[in-house]
Amino acid sequence: MKFTVRPAEEKDSEALGRMGAALARLHHDFDPPRFMLSEDLEQGYSWWLGKEAKSKKAVVLVAEAEDGRIIGYAYGRIESRDWNMLLDAHGGLHDLWVEPEARTYGVGEKLTRAAVEALTKLGAPRVVLHTAARNEVAQRFFKRLGLRPTMVELPVEAEKS
Ligand SMILES: CC(C)(COP(=O)(O)OP(=O)(O)OC[C@H]1O[C@@H](n2cnc3c(N)ncnc32)[C@H](O)[C@@H]1OP(=O)(O)O)[C@@H](O)C(=O)NCCC(=O)NCCS
Repeated sequence: MKFTVRPAEEKDSEALGRMGAALARLHHDFDPPRFMLSEDLEQGYSWWLGKEAKSKKAVVLVAEAEDGRIIGYAYGRIESRDWNMLLDAHGGLHDLWVEPEARTYGVGEKLTRAAVEALTKLGAPRVVLHTAARNEVAQRFFKRLGLRPTMVELPVEAEKS
């Protein structure tokens, strides 16, 4: 499959909304109490990613197939030092999505490498991402690209009286 990776533009806003919403739903399905959902997910992500694409501290990239279809995106931003997490300033790679029909062709790898490069150019000394404990495909994928697992998140819901 032939595709290119480029910075997101205004015209990508619908595709970004669709893919951002799909990523949110995937996480919600992994663990519904932990991964919240809101109404108007498509609209919300279209707005947020469109806004972030204009920020000098963020990176929003899309993968475009030869026929013009948007088949994936990556989103990251520069995050400041966080004492609670013992995590110094870094590039947070927050979203990565490849449309199901476009997977295993190297789109995810190219998006990830381009996002890491762009965040590094913005000054990030390292890039950090979080992935769901149940997302084994993603964990294998990121490990292959050289990212290492560090934190394990353990939520518990309040007991109802
Ligand atoms: C995780 C995800 C981004 C990977 O995207 P992708 O485009 O399929 O990634 P790649 O094609 O670069 O690599 C995927 C696999 O295909 C293989 N592959 C890559 N190019 C290939 C090719 N040309 N032919 C056959 N296989 C190939 C890779 O070896 C890799 O296998 P591995 O991960 O078991 O080592 C994608 O599955 C996805 O969007 N998942 C849902 C969202 C998600 O989990 N996002 C990450 C968490 S935020």
